[in-house]
Amino acid sequence: MGVTINDLATAKREGRRFAMLTAYDWPTARLLTEAGIPVILVGDSLADNVLGYANTLPVSMAEMLHHARAVARGAPDALLVGDMPFGTYQSGCDAAVAAAVDFLKAGMHAVKVEGGWVLDLVARLTQRGIPVMCHLGLTPQSVNAFGGMRVQGRTEDSREQIVSDAIALERAGAFAIVLEGMPRDLAARITAMLTIPTIGIGAGPDCDAQVLVLHDLLGITPHTRGSLPKFARTFADVGDQVVGAARAFAAAVGEGTFPDDAHSFH
Ligand code: KIV
Repeated sequence: MGVTINDLATAKREGRRFAMLTAYDWPTARLLTEAGIPVILVGDSLADNVLGYANTLPVSMAEMLHHARAVARGAPDALLVGDMPFGTYQSGCDAAVAAAVDFLKAGMHAVKVEGGWVLDLVARLTQRGIPVMCHLGLTPQSVNAFGGMRVQGRTEDSREQIVSDAIALERAGAFAIVLEGMPRDLAARITAMLTIPTIGIGAGPDCDAQVLVLHDLLGITPHTRGSLPKFARTFADVGDQVVGAARAFAAAVGEGTFPDDAHSFH
């Protein structure tokens, strides 16, 4: 058995930070496995990073499952989390449970849902043996309610709401909570209060774990190339490498230097 939710609980208890990354296909899942990444999220960021939608709202369950299956084939060791797309859990628990079951049948080990209002759903899913990761703060599926991708937890009311949501979600059975787009002191406070791991993105360094969108880390998302969000870092500029390689190939073809004799059959 690969990484389990128990391993993440142990990491929190022992004060060991861990990394989560998104993946959307088989080759990157293979590469993340080679890198030993313990938790892989098939994020609904599939929408704006791979499928070319403007934000995460349009991606469908069918699209998510197609990519989840590919990731599952490439990542035998990691804990795999399927991100419930917008519309699969907003209208009621029965439809949501069915969607979560589809994710587990596609090879995921857990699902992720956004917001603090999902308490009943978290309890229903965990009672049915489906581990749930929650997501608080700047939850991208609420972009319209927030009036844009705005850092949350800036007012006292908003801070207290996020703290009480985090405590309630832990009690409802969540095994981890992503904290996105919030002041670092708020994320630190929540991390200290909870016994389950917090996974930060734009929430400062004091969370138990960190997550990034793989395409930000690699510099390959067209709309963030050169204008990454403040919290992200391009650890390797694969985008530039791809552009350079494509240009070099086209130039070699134009000059007649590729293929040469060494790349030809005799
Ligand atoms: O969809 C996603 O990639 C996410 C992460 C940013 C946590 O939800």
